[in-house]
Amino acid sequence: MLLALTAAGVTVLIDATAGRLPALAYWGRALPGLDAEQAQALVATGEPVAGSNDPEVRPRVAVLPGHDAGWTGRPGLRGSFAGVGWSPAFTVAAVTVDGAPAPAFHAGGPGRVEVRAVDDAGRLELRLVLELLPAGLLRARAALRNRAAEGYALDDLVLAFPVPAEADELLDFTGRHNQERVPVRSPFPAGTHLRENRKGRTGADSAYLLHAGTAGFGFAAGRIWAVHTAWSGNHTHYAEQVHTGERLLGGGELLLPGEVRLATGETYEGPWVYAAYGDGLDEVARRFHRHLRARRPPVSPRRPVTLNVWEAVYFDHDLDRLTGLAERAAAAGVERYVLDDGWFGSRRDDTSGLGDWVVSAQVWPAGLHPLVDRVAQLGMQFGLWFEPEMVSPDSDVARAHPDWIMAARAEWPVEARTQQVLNLGLPEAYEHVRTQILAVLAEYDIGYLKWDHNRDLIEAGTRPDGGRPGVHAQTLAFYRLLDEIRAAHPGLEIESCSSGGARVDLAVLERTDRVWVSDNIDAHDRQRIMRWTTQLVPPEYLGSHIASGRSHVTGRRHDLAFRAGTAVFGHLGIEWDLTGATPAETAELREWVAFFRRERELLLGGDLVRMDGYDDRVLVHGVVAPDRSRALFAMAITDSIVPDPVPRLRLRGLDPAARYRVGPVVVGAEPAGLIAPRWWGADRSGAVVTGAALELAGVACPRMYPDQVQLYRADREPAGPR
Ligand code: GLA
Repeated sequence: MLLALTAAGVTVLIDATAGRLPALAYWGRALPGLDAEQAQALVATGEPVAGSNDPEVRPRVAVLPGHDAGWTGRPGLRGSFAGVGWSPAFTVAAVTVDGAPAPAFHAGGPGRVEVRAVDDAGRLELRLVLELLPAGLLRARAALRNRAAEGYALDDLVLAFPVPAEADELLDFTGRHNQERVPVRSPFPAGTHLRENRKGRTGADSAYLLHAGTAGFGFAAGRIWAVHTAWSGNHTHYAEQVHTGERLLGGGELLLPGEVRLATGETYEGPWVYAAYGDGLDEVARRFHRHLRARRPPVSPRRPVTLNVWEAVYFDHDLDRLTGLAERAAAAGVERYVLDDGWFGSRRDDTSGLGDWVVSAQVWPAGLHPLVDRVAQLGMQFGLWFEPEMVSPDSDVARAHPDWIMAARAEWPVEARTQQVLNLGLPEAYEHVRTQILAVLAEYDIGYLKWDHNRDLIEAGTRPDGGRPGVHAQTLAFYRLLDEIRAAHPGLEIESCSSGGARVDLAVLERTDRVWVSDNIDAHDRQRIMRWTTQLVPPEYLGSHIASGRSHVTGRRHDLAFRAGTAVFGHLGIEWDLTGATPAETAELREWVAFFRRERELLLGGDLVRMDGYDDRVLVHGVVAPDRSRALFAMAITDSIVPDPVPRLRLRGLDPAARYRVGPVVVGAEPAGLIAPRWWGADRSGAVVTGAALELAGVACPRMYPDQVQLYRADREPAGPR
C-alpha cells in the first residue's frame, strides 16, 4: 500500500508495500499531483544503490527500523525472550486508513493509518499508528504485544523519521533549574547525537524538540524537520547518520533495565513521537501551537490574570497578610488568586509535610475558608498548590508507609530538596493521594491547581517488588491521576510546574492548561526562556509573571516597564508582595493589567513571529491576529550593544499589500533612556507603512538603556479610496 497524506502544507508518503513495515518514502513540504503513478515513481526513483561491501539491497529504514532489513544503525525494537528472538522480522497483516481497510493507493488529507504486523515466529504483535494531524504534524506510536508462552523483556522501543542529507545542522535544547530551554546548535554528526533523560520527569535540560535543518536555518527560513517525544518520564531523542548517508530523527521512552517484561498477552504502548516539518522555526512552532489550540477542552485566550503568592510570602501563611495581598491584587485587576506551598500538614518550610494533603490546623484554624471566601468576595477565582507525587521523610505518610517511597533497595535514594518520591504505581499510595486531593477539592471552591514536582526520580524503584524500576508505571499513574481529577471536576484548570519549567511536553499538555515556565522570573532571562519555550508551546499556556523589582533568583533590578512588557506575551500573572509596592508602582501595574485584559485575545490567540537578524541580545517577537488586521510586537534590548541604536526594526507576519499604522505602545512609563526616532511623532501616533515595507525595509529604532523593552502596535488601515 502507498498512502499519501497532505495537511497544512505537509505531505507524508507512507510505503507499506509488500507486507513490509511502513517507511516514509517522503516527508516534507507538500507535493502536488501525488497520484498513484507519481507515488510509485517517487518510491521507485528513490531506491538507492547498495553501498560498497554492504548487503546487496540497501536497507530500507522503516518507522520502526529493523536489523532484519540489514540496518546496522539503532534498531527500533530491542528485547528478547531470554536471549532468543532478539531480531524479529515483522510482516504486515493489516493496514487501515481512518478505520477502513487501506486500498493499494490512498491520497487524502489528515488521517490515521494503523498497521498491524506479526513477527516471523508469531510471538510478537506490533501495532503502529501514524497520524497526520490537521496542523500538518505527523505523529507515530507503537504498541507491542507478547503472544508467546514465555515472557518477553523489552529493552527499548524507538520510532524514527528520515530526513534528507541537506538537513545538516541540529538544534535542540539543554538547561537547568532557573535556565530552562537553552538552545544548542551543532553540525549533524556522523553516528549518533543522543539525548537520554533519566530524571523521571521531562527535565529542565530536556532536548524538548530536536531539529535538523538546512545550514543556518532561522525563524523565517530554512527547511527544518523536528521530533518531540511526548512523555513526562525517562525518554530519548536522537539524530543518527550512518555510513551510507541515511539520516534519521527519532525518539521514544527510555526503559530502565528489566522495567518492562511482557508476560503472555501483555502489551506495552509507547508514547506519541511527534514529527514536524516547517519552512523556518516559526512554522514548526506554529504547527504545535495549532495542534494545542485544537485540543479539547481548549484553553481560552481570555485567560484570567493571576496572582501567585509564592515570591510574596513564601511559607509565611498569615491570614491577614494573605487577605491584604488578595485585596491589593483585586484592586490591580487580578482575576485568579493562587495559594502556593505551605498550607498543609507540618509544612512550615521546605523540610517537611509533603504527602499530608490536609489543611494545617496550626496555621489555618478555621481551614482555608476565610481566605477562600474573601477571594471569592473580591471577585477572584481561588487556586491551590499541590505536589502530589512527593513525600517528605518528615511526614505522617512517610512514617506510616516507608515502603511507599520509591527506592531501588532498602535505603532511600539520595535526598533532593529534603524530599522523596511517592510510588503512585502502588495502588494504596495512589489512592491515598487521590483521596486527599479530592477531599480538599470537595471542601473548597477551587478552580485551579498548581501541580508541582520538585525533584528528579533517582533510583526510583518499587520497594515491595524488590526495588524493580518504577518510572514507567509512575508516569502512567501520574497521567491517570490527572485524568481522574479532571473527570471528577470538569472545568478545573491545572498548571504543570516542576521546579519551574521541568515538566513541559505534549503528553502533560494533553491534561494541563498552563506550564510554569521557570522559577526565574527575572525579565532579562525570561525574554530568552519564553522565546524558546514557544518553540513547542503557544503563549497562552506560558505562566508569565511580573515579579518584584529585584529578582529573587538573580538579584538583578529591573523597571516595571521591562518586567511587565516581557510578561504580557504569556498568561499574565503577578508574583510580588504588592503590599510593599509604592503608589506609583501600583498605578503603573494597574495600567499593565488593564492593557493585558484589553489585548489578551491577540496576545494569547495570535500567530507568533520571532525575528532573525539581530545581535543575540536584541530579541524581537510579536503576535499577529489570524486575519492579519492587527499585531503587537516587542523589541527587548538585554545588554549594551554595538551598534546603538540597533539597526532598523523589521516586522514580519503582516499582509504585505496592506497598509498599517505602526507606532509605539505606551503603557505606564516609557522605557528608560528612551530617545525616540522622529517618525514616532510627538503624540506617538507613528506612521503608515505597508506590511511589505515593514518586513523588507523596516523602520528606525529608538535608543534606550539595556534591559528595556519597547512594544509596538500595527493596525491595518481601512481599505478604500485615499
Ligand atoms: C517550586 C515551584 C515554585 C514554588 C515552590 C514551592 O520551586 O517551581 O513556583 O511553587 O516549588 O515550594
